[in-house]
Amino acid sequence: MEEMKKGLEGVVALDTKISFIDGIQGILKYRGINIEDLADLSYDAVSYLLINGKIPDETELSEYSQELKKNRRINGKQIEVLKEFDFGIEALDGLRTAISCTAHFDNENNHHTPDANKNKSIRLVAKFPTIVAALHRSGHGEPIIEPDSELSHAANFLFMLKGKIPTKLETEAMEKDLILSAEHELNPSTFSLRIAASTLSDMYSAIICGLCTLKGPLHGGARKGVMDMLDEVGSQENARDYIVQKLERKEKIMGFGHRVYKTYDPRAMIYKDVARRLAIEKADCSWFDMAEEIEHILYHEFIELRGKPIYPNVDFYSAVVYKYLEIPAELATSIFAMGRVSGWIAHCMEQYSDNRVIRPRAHSV
Ligand code: ACO
Repeated sequence: MEEMKKGLEGVVALDTKISFIDGIQGILKYRGINIEDLADLSYDAVSYLLINGKIPDETELSEYSQELKKNRRINGKQIEVLKEFDFGIEALDGLRTAISCTAHFDNENNHHTPDANKNKSIRLVAKFPTIVAALHRSGHGEPIIEPDSELSHAANFLFMLKGKIPTKLETEAMEKDLILSAEHELNPSTFSLRIAASTLSDMYSAIICGLCTLKGPLHGGARKGVMDMLDEVGSQENARDYIVQKLERKEKIMGFGHRVYKTYDPRAMIYKDVARRLAIEKADCSWFDMAEEIEHILYHEFIELRGKPIYPNVDFYSAVVYKYLEIPAELATSIFAMGRVSGWIAHCMEQYSDNRVIRPRAHSV
């Protein structure tokens, strides 16, 4: 009988050209390029790289960006539907329903040719930010703001969310956030999406599977968990008691630990640097100092408890960045999805291009 691996830990389920992780050395590459080098590009360039497999040249990037800008708008009927949503619900539930709606308004929804999938991928990447911002504003009784084609992907999102043009550093922070969130090999949401794609279900349905899986607090939902935790801790001085008590109650500390990384998550280092720079620009180090204190306390507590440290994952310092960007915690998972959608699309296309239905077995016990 085959050995069952709980949580599929260490199981290799497929080959991919999209990304590479070395969890021991702390290396992450998209399409063979180190994340540290990609973080300085634009989200458009990284999105193109993930979906098309190469860094775009100047003309390709300019054409791709133009296509994205042309497709940012959502139609009036869709806006009417969004306005009807009951906003007692979580933001990610709203986004999931809105993407179903977008599928309904996409006349290529059930066309599965490579060209149709390319067109849908542009529409998905372009419309995610518009939908996230529109849902948030209409849910709070504020007028929806139209996309501005003069602004980059990230700057336009912050503009549609808040109604003011972000600073250079705020734009850089948002752009990096979307890049760092864009792809991560066979994480739970991507795996669930590849299962859907392997049944030859359409791209929208696969993306919705990804969204549903991202929602969980042990995956993309951890980012909101970190933001809530920072509010609960309240100050650097409270950090030790808060963390020690949580560990005594055997509760998880959101934003720490990883199935694959057994060292510092390379994305967390980049986020930490951005958070530090935002703290300086905003002349308010309180969130950053509190977060760094939590990191230090956990590192040492874990050595004492388990003989080895624990490190921040992608969700920890990204939550600190969101604090400085004054992004509401309820939007944290939806914004994660805005970045991740490019990686999801790439995985969907990779699955379609060399498909075999993903169907493991279970032991009957
Ligand atoms: N806080 C407290 N204890 C932890 C944490 C944490 N953040 N992470 C791991 N541990 C504990 C585990 O409970 C386990 O204890 P046990 O041996 O008594 O059962 C031990 O450390 C070893 O855990 P691992 O095997 O390394 O972790 P696993 O691979 O099962 O889980 C996971 C990884 C789910 C990410 C876990 O670290 C966790 O729950 N972290 C908090 C949630 C989080 O930040 N999720 C986001 C991950 S990144 C992403 O999905 C985008």
